[in-house]
Amino acid sequence: MNSNKTVLISGGAGYIGSHTAVELINAGYDVVIIDNLSNSDRNAVDGVRDIVGRDIPFEVVDTCDRAALRAVFDRYAFDSVIHFAAFKAVGESVAEPLKYYQNNLVSFMNIVELMKETGRPNVLFSSSATVYGEAEVLPVTEQTPRQPATSPYGNTKQIAEDILRDCCGAYSGLNGIALRYFNPIGAHPSALIGELPRGVPNNLVPFITQTAAGIRPMLSIFGNDYDTPDGTCLRDYIDVVDLAKAHVAAVNRMVGARMESSYEIFNIGTGRPVSVLELITTFEKVNDLKLPYQYTARRAGDVPAVWADTTRANEVLGWKAERSLDDTLRAAWAWEKHIRNIK
Ligand code: NAD
Ligand code: WQD
Repeated sequence: MNSNKTVLISGGAGYIGSHTAVELINAGYDVVIIDNLSNSDRNAVDGVRDIVGRDIPFEVVDTCDRAALRAVFDRYAFDSVIHFAAFKAVGESVAEPLKYYQNNLVSFMNIVELMKETGRPNVLFSSSATVYGEAEVLPVTEQTPRQPATSPYGNTKQIAEDILRDCCGAYSGLNGIALRYFNPIGAHPSALIGELPRGVPNNLVPFITQTAAGIRPMLSIFGNDYDTPDGTCLRDYIDVVDLAKAHVAAVNRMVGARMESSYEIFNIGTGRPVSVLELITTFEKVNDLKLPYQYTARRAGDVPAVWADTTRANEVLGWKAERSLDDTLRAAWAWEKHIRNIK
């Protein structure tokens, strides 16, 4: 393996990590996947292997376990790490903050510390649009001030961004990129990998697909009295394959020594606001089915609207979201049908 062309993916058995592994391999990189399978299944790694048609090194490792992580760093030659490994349920983070601070921050500090210790240069971090909170001006650019976090989960993203900024400023040779994802949705067009939420989904699209599959009797739209065109919230839904390709662009930038400063941030979205109602009606249209839905009260903590200004990612990373919402929602349903054995 050529270390410059090899990427360690923490949390690579997860939703975004598995799709990113595929796109990195398609782009000519080798990958090493580590995951503790706390929110994923090893079948996802097999799905990646099936899509790319070759074996991929995979190890069950907890990134909070520094010694086990150190052994991975000693075993493989790689210059870049993409750190996906984290817990991501906003509500659970309010109920169990320590679980989130422990897992999301200890694991990230272990990664950054080992990068420094072993002289590896490139860290790519999964951040989130959640850092913007309820922004005063939309769409948000990377310069839009972050709002105080409204959940421990959101706080872990802000703190981890700051850790990366400070470490890249202090330790020469260390480069960091934080990608602020908006709302990742969809699945690989092969339907061999996709999102696998445990229990009742928190996020809209898995709730829609599970309702379509008959697992949930009714979909709730949380609020239709927002100050938006149809009264439902606006979000920027980014196809997971497009999102995966943004990681390839960011790795290319780091590996190619094209960064303008040692720490950079990019919004990764489509730049187009879509309402909850538009998403649901588009899902119905492209998949030719009807969803049972009702309007209910607003969900605590939801911002009325947020979407990305993606100019920086378009111009500096040379990346742009390409897949249509129709194709994304077809792929989301194809994946749900695949895992439920629906014809
Ligand atoms: P996911 O839960 O599917 O993937 C995360 C993976 O990390 C899982 O496979 C899990 O088993 C693993 N993991 C968790 N803690 C670990 C640990 N200590 N050691 C090893 N593995 C560990 O989630 P995802 O949607 O793919 O999210 C990936 C990253 O992107 C996360 O950091 C998440 O916070 C961030 N993010 C996600 C979204 C979203 O809506 N999906 C939006 C913005 C940011
Ligand atoms: C989208 C819209 C809901 C479910 C979350 C995290 C964020 C980021 C992405 C990680 C909202 C509405 C939802 C339902 C509904 N994750 N909705 N009925 O809240 O924008 O972002 O995931 O970083 O941090 O907060 O995504 O998919 O939960 O909701 O009406 O059953 O769908 O009110 O307007 P959200 P979501």
